[in-house]
Amino acid sequence: MAYTTQDVHNKVKKLLYSLTGITLSDNKDIMISNRIDKLKRNCKYSGDIMDLLNSIEQGNNVTEFINSFTTNKTHFFREDFHFVDLKDRVLPAFANSGTKINMYCSASSTGEEPYSMAMTVFKASEELGKNISASIIATDIDTNVLQYAANGIYRYSKSSKEFPSWIRPQNFFKRRIQKNLSGEEILIKVNDELKRMITFHVMNLSDPSYPFAKNQFDVIFCRNVLIYFSAEDQNSILKKLFKHLKIGGTLYLGHSENPQDLVHYVKRVGQNIFVKEKEIV
Ligand SMILES: C[S@@+](CC[C@H](N)C(=O)[O-])C[C@H]1O[C@@H](n2cnc3c(N)ncnc32)[C@H](O)[C@@H]1O
Repeated sequence: MAYTTQDVHNKVKKLLYSLTGITLSDNKDIMISNRIDKLKRNCKYSGDIMDLLNSIEQGNNVTEFINSFTTNKTHFFREDFHFVDLKDRVLPAFANSGTKINMYCSASSTGEEPYSMAMTVFKASEELGKNISASIIATDIDTNVLQYAANGIYRYSKSSKEFPSWIRPQNFFKRRIQKNLSGEEILIKVNDELKRMITFHVMNLSDPSYPFAKNQFDVIFCRNVLIYFSAEDQNSILKKLFKHLKIGGTLYLGHSENPQDLVHYVKRVGQNIFVKEKEIV
């Protein structure tokens, strides 16, 4: 049967929403076309796109579909003031009490964000002269980026501004120079001490509930992922996450995200930094 490009795009949007909760706006046609090409490559498929989408709807190649349509842009110490807040406001209490801090990174992408959280813990320990015990659970819906994160090997450019002045990357990474067709590149590999602090798992934020205990976390990072959801779904994700945050715990949101209905239950303590004051009633 004949169909138009718009039919294909509408089908992609419907599938993506039902599998991930991601809502693609109407001006994303070029992006959808590029991601369809990626999907075909990932599935090693050269046939009719509607047949492939129908097959995905039946439960085949679902992982390849999700991995093709997520946007994974991230970098070390993105919005670095959040890590400064973690180091200077949150972590000293844990250093002083000796209590373990439990942190959650809810859309960890290729791992730069949870590794930045872990480096911040080590830096705070060094500055305060006290060992801080910490664990970080990092999740994402995209299995490819989780694999990349668990590997912990990144390209490094000397001119990169990714690391703030208070972090010495040489304390946390081993450097290796790799020759390739376009010359040489520097690779950095996360050390085992950082890796031991983090566990990576696949998880869909659109799932009806999350596999964590009530008030499990002292800190939740939920940054630059809510933007892919409708306002209603953002609200629902935030409410689910909130159950797992302790009273007094901190929620960090991305630069263009806001706490929606949680605004009545949190205190704003910095730029997109919210402390939980009470449970939702
Ligand atoms: C733009 S990246 C943000 C990464 C990091 N939090 C940061 O701020 O740099 C968004 C991530 O959200 C993930 N994501 C999208 N939809 C998701 C869902 N329904 N459940 C879990 N993760 C999702 C994507 O796979 C992607 O890695």
